[in-house]
Amino acid sequence: MSLGTGIFAGEISKTYRSITFPTDPFSFQSGKGQEVANTYCLICHSADYIYMQPEHSEKKWKAIITKMKRVFGCPIPQDQIPALSTYLFQQNSVSKRPPTDSR
Ligand code: HEC
Repeated sequence: MSLGTGIFAGEISKTYRSITFPTDPFSFQSGKGQEVANTYCLICHSADYIYMQPEHSEKKWKAIITKMKRVFGCPIPQDQIPALSTYLFQQNSVSKRPPTDSR
């Protein structure tokens, strides 16, 4: 899957506007950890790219964030990872996503 940039991101947002999505698909929803997600995850992804992921456990989110840091060079400080994992887990499990075939 390509990253959420340019034309591709526009296509995603059209898809999401046709379903009931909490609010703006390009922002992280309010909550503790929102700022961290906005700061360190929007560098390479749009927020809806994160919301469209299949449901993951908190532990899996931690592993994903760690991968983003170690493999892709996401500049998130190590000590922010636990809180962000909790936030993304909560967001991921409350968000209304369309069915996905990537489970
Ligand atoms: C430096 C760029 C960069 C940053 C910053 C970044 N990512 Fe990624 N992310 C990537 C790339 C590249 C991929 C594609 C990986 C692949 O195809 O295996 C990816 C893939 C993903 C995936 C898809 C699942 C997976 O494991 O591949 C998720 C979920 C994800 N990123 C979440 C995040 C979150 C959450 C953050 C913020 C903490 C973040 N990313 C920050 C580059 C980045």
